Parts: sequence; C-alpha cells; structure tokens
Amino acid sequence: MSDIQTQFVKNILSGAETNRKETGLAFAPSNIALCKYWGKRHAALNLPLNSSLSISLGSLGTRTELRLRDGAAAAPAVFLNGELLPPDSSFAKRVAAFLDLFPMVGTSFEVRTENNIPTAAGLASSASGFAALTMALNDLAGWGLGGRMLSMLARLGSGSASRSVFDGFVQWHMGSNDDGSDSFAEPFSKPWPEFRIGILELTDAEKPVGSRDGMNRTVETSALYANWPAQANADFQTLHSAILKRDFPTVGQTAEHNALSMHATMMSAWPPLIYLQPESVAMIHQVQRVRADGLDVYLTIDAGPNIKLLFLEENEGAVASAFPNIQVINPFG
Ligand code: DP6
Repeated sequence: MSDIQTQFVKNILSGAETNRKETGLAFAPSNIALCKYWGKRHAALNLPLNSSLSISLGSLGTRTELRLRDGAAAAPAVFLNGELLPPDSSFAKRVAAFLDLFPMVGTSFEVRTENNIPTAAGLASSASGFAALTMALNDLAGWGLGGRMLSMLARLGSGSASRSVFDGFVQWHMGSNDDGSDSFAEPFSKPWPEFRIGILELTDAEKPVGSRDGMNRTVETSALYANWPAQANADFQTLHSAILKRDFPTVGQTAEHNALSMHATMMSAWPPLIYLQPESVAMIHQVQRVRADGLDVYLTIDAGPNIKLLFLEENEGAVASAFPNIQVINPFG
C-alpha cells in the first residue's frame, strides 16, 4: 500500500456514503483484449502507456463473495474455488494488499472466489477476479459507485480488471493525468451477437513470467518497445471504428497484428520473454493456412502460449472442423 494509492482511493470515495452490510456479492466477466495493454507509466496506480480495448466473455468469469469477520485486523481468508489459499500464495497476497486499501470498510475479510473459466486456458483470472472483488466491496460497503469509478478502483488490483467491470466491447482510456483520475474503462458499441471466440488450449504449462513482471521487463529492456505505444493507440482507433461498423476482417486483422506485435516486443526484451510454445507457433501457421484457403478467422494471444481465435457465427462449423479441439464462446449469448 502506498500513499498515492491511499489518496487515490480517498478521492474516488469522497462523494460516496457508506451503508455497510455483512456480505457483498458480485460477478465479473473475464475479458480478452483485442488491443493489448502492455506497459505502465505508473506502477502503483497501474496507469498504462497505451489505451486498450477488449471483449468481455459473458457468463465466463469470477463470482466473489466478501464477508466481514469479527476481531482484530488480520490477513483475509482467501478461498479459490472452495479451497483456502495459503496466505503467502501470490493471489492471496495481492487480494490482501488490495483490501488493505479499504480500512474504512473493515480490517478482516473472508473472500470466496469462484472461477468458471477453464484456468488452464490462459484466460486472465486476475482481470475478472479484481473486478468482482471491487464490485463485491461496493456491494458490501453500499457506496453505490458507478462503472467508471469501479473500473478505476479495480485497476489498482490489476490493470486489465478495469475492463472486466463491463460486458461486451470495452475501451480503457489510458488518460494523461499523473493522479490517474482520467484512466478508466467504459463500454461502447451495441452487442454483436454473431461474434465468436474460440479457445485453443494447447498446453497448461505454467508461464515462467507473469504479465506484470513481463511488461515491466519489456518496457525496461526492449528497444522495439519504443514503437509500441504509438502502434497500440493507432490499433485502438482502428478497432474502435471497425467494431462500430461491424467490419469483421478489419477487427480480426488489427487484433492479430496487435497481438503479434506485442509478442515481438516481448521477444526483444532481455532476458527474452518467449511465451509461445512450439504448439503455439504451429497453430499460428495453421490459422494463416486456413485463412489463405478462404476462412475468415484471426487469432490473438496474451502473455502465454494459448491461442484465441476470432470469427463469426456463420463460420463456426468450418472453424470447428479446422480446429477440432476448440472451445467456442459466444460473448453475447
Ligand atoms: C497481455 O492486467 O495482468 O493480458 O496491471 O500488472 O496486473 P497488471 O497486468 P495485467 O496485464 C494484462 C496483459 C495482457 C494484455 C491485456 O489484457 O490487455
């Protein structure tokens, strides 16, 4: 907990009244970035070096129940899918650090987090996890905060959590203020019911370096990173207007180019960050092959080896025969 985080939380809550209950409950969807967040201009406030844009995964995400415990200040009891986590596990420590920012709500909590996202599929659970935790806290404290404020609080837990506060297509404006007051997410565009995401679970190998350390290392050591913020901000604009126009090929191409460009900055970091496994590279080639044969399918990849495909409902059958192990998600279903 830093002074700047404490001040940030105070500013957000300055107009809110507290009507505290014993428990708070919330669900937040997982999200997949079509324009990636990669690199921070401020670590404690998770302020990004570029704007990003994502699609939320409907009913796939995290449900969190938060309960106040009696007694003296203590580390929270954090349960993940029914199991009590050791207090020194990385998720429990991050949850504890986040809840420490809210001593006005309580000093001892029980947190029950249930993920219905296949954990091995490389879908970020910290995004939906911190979004659901923030929303459960808002429910418990009775602040009645709106989406913009919730997204800024969730951002303190994990940058990508700012986008998981909302359904559908979401944009996270990077902002320019040093105090973080203009860096928030908001939804845009109507639902696109034909939009599909395919999850290809290629390996459940632990990734050696998490997103947080990976992006810091990239910013510090990759010469290619200098070009990233400008490209990402341009991709953001292109994706934004292509989504509004329902121009699927432009959405797919821009998302794929954005993801592979992010991986180029990762690989040019030192020590190098190579999240792709041989299976990932083989799959990238296969996507290019089926696209050359006329199938309108594109890919995106986060800081891990697994691939997500982007396509429209009309091609679901063809995509499923080209990629038999695919799990199809309808984000608006
Ligand atoms: C590659 O949001 O996990 O998934 O803010 O340090 O918690 P922290 O990082 P995190 O990074 C996500 C990186 C990404 C791209 C994205 O989701 O935009």
